[in-house]
Amino acid sequence: MTQPKKLFIKTYGCQMNVYDSERMAEAMGGQGYVQTDSPDDADMILLNTCHIREKAAEKVYSELGRYKVLKAERPDLKIGVAGCVAQAEGEEIMRRQPMVDLVVGPQSYHRLPELEAKARSGEKALDTDFPEEDKFERLQARPKAKRGPTAFLTVQEGCDKFCAFCVVPYTRGAEVSRPADRVLTEARDLVERGVREITLLGQNVNAYHGHDRGLAGLIRELAAIDGLERIRFTTSHPNDMDDALIAAHGDCEKLMPYLHLPVQAGSDRILKRMNRHHTAEAYLKLVERLRAARPDLHLSGDFIVGFPEETEADFQATLDLVEAVQYGSAFSFKYSERPGTPAAERPQVPEAEKDDRLQRLQALLVRQQRALQDAMIGREVGVLFEKAGRRPGQMVGKSDYLHAVYVESDGLARGDLRRVRIVESSPNSLRGVLA
Ligand code: 5AD
Ligand code: SF4
Repeated sequence: MTQPKKLFIKTYGCQMNVYDSERMAEAMGGQGYVQTDSPDDADMILLNTCHIREKAAEKVYSELGRYKVLKAERPDLKIGVAGCVAQAEGEEIMRRQPMVDLVVGPQSYHRLPELEAKARSGEKALDTDFPEEDKFERLQARPKAKRGPTAFLTVQEGCDKFCAFCVVPYTRGAEVSRPADRVLTEARDLVERGVREITLLGQNVNAYHGHDRGLAGLIRELAAIDGLERIRFTTSHPNDMDDALIAAHGDCEKLMPYLHLPVQAGSDRILKRMNRHHTAEAYLKLVERLRAARPDLHLSGDFIVGFPEETEADFQATLDLVEAVQYGSAFSFKYSERPGTPAAERPQVPEAEKDDRLQRLQALLVRQQRALQDAMIGREVGVLFEKAGRRPGQMVGKSDYLHAVYVESDGLARGDLRRVRIVESSPNSLRGVLA
């Protein structure tokens, strides 16, 4: 028997890339590759990259720099760049790093086996098309191997919103939804393999239209699958949060009480300049409706500080909005100029201002996160156990609200979903006992 070749994939960026990396590994499995967790013994290295902020993109080049030595030692080693940097800078990558053999954009990774064969024959292989065919359908069926209790499932890709700061509409292309029957088949397959929680993914997941009743319709059909216990979805745009989805948060038991609903900023002037098509008040009203449907809903958000022309008063409006919402968790970023996006052409906020605003915003968000976490003490929550903790007999899982929860108890296994009483709160996790 021939030795399997080894594939090392390093994944950057969002959860959609995590899902894509899994699918790429599966596609390469058909070519005789098994995954390895170190680049040192790999026959092929694939970087699945992110282009959302400058720092994310720069990481790719410094990582590639590190592989120079490996490539010098082992000329047979093939190096590939996938994902959004590949899409945005394909040919430039090959120019800047001639040791790169293969570049594949996020819409073309079903062609990876052919590209790998081309690279093996000594040619450079580049594919950053937006092909007509559907990559998900071109991929082989997922292997039947057992897997962990949680999984991502991409249902929608791309975005038509064109927020003025964002590269996604350019790197991932126009909004496309996968048909509901395909998603349901993949979900049933995941459940057969041990998955109990599925997170539906899409850059604009609540714009999903692969089901005649939208994302809410898909969620309700998923909820009917025996053995699937929990459903989540991310990331959502406020304007696509329709009545059916709000209602699902109220009465669909398997839909978890956690929602990532980015607002980006709290000033109407800045929201307009960001091309968000909603006001701060509209967002707050939406939050109110969601909480009316599901009072214990934990909200999470994304924020950008130092967007071009943001004044101190604009920034204060962001702080006010955060105060009004009370987030369970949040991600905040300094605005990063992305070539080709409208905001990159505008007068920029000085870096020192951005740093200062980011610090103030994060201090507030951390306080809120801690407060909501501390409020869990004494409460009972569902926890889906995912892996062993550091201490003997300890297991760690995620609460319904996505907190990491540690429990010490004999007989707990991976994949168990149990009621847990929270007894302690630390900066990034909770501790509980079985209820
Ligand atoms: N600069 C800073 N943050 C950005 N994001 C998207 N584009 C940029 C940018 N140019 C943030 C947004 C988005 C999250 C995924 O990344 O907050 O919701
Ligand atoms: Fe980017 Fe999200 Fe705006 Fe689409 S909705 S342009 S993915 S920030």
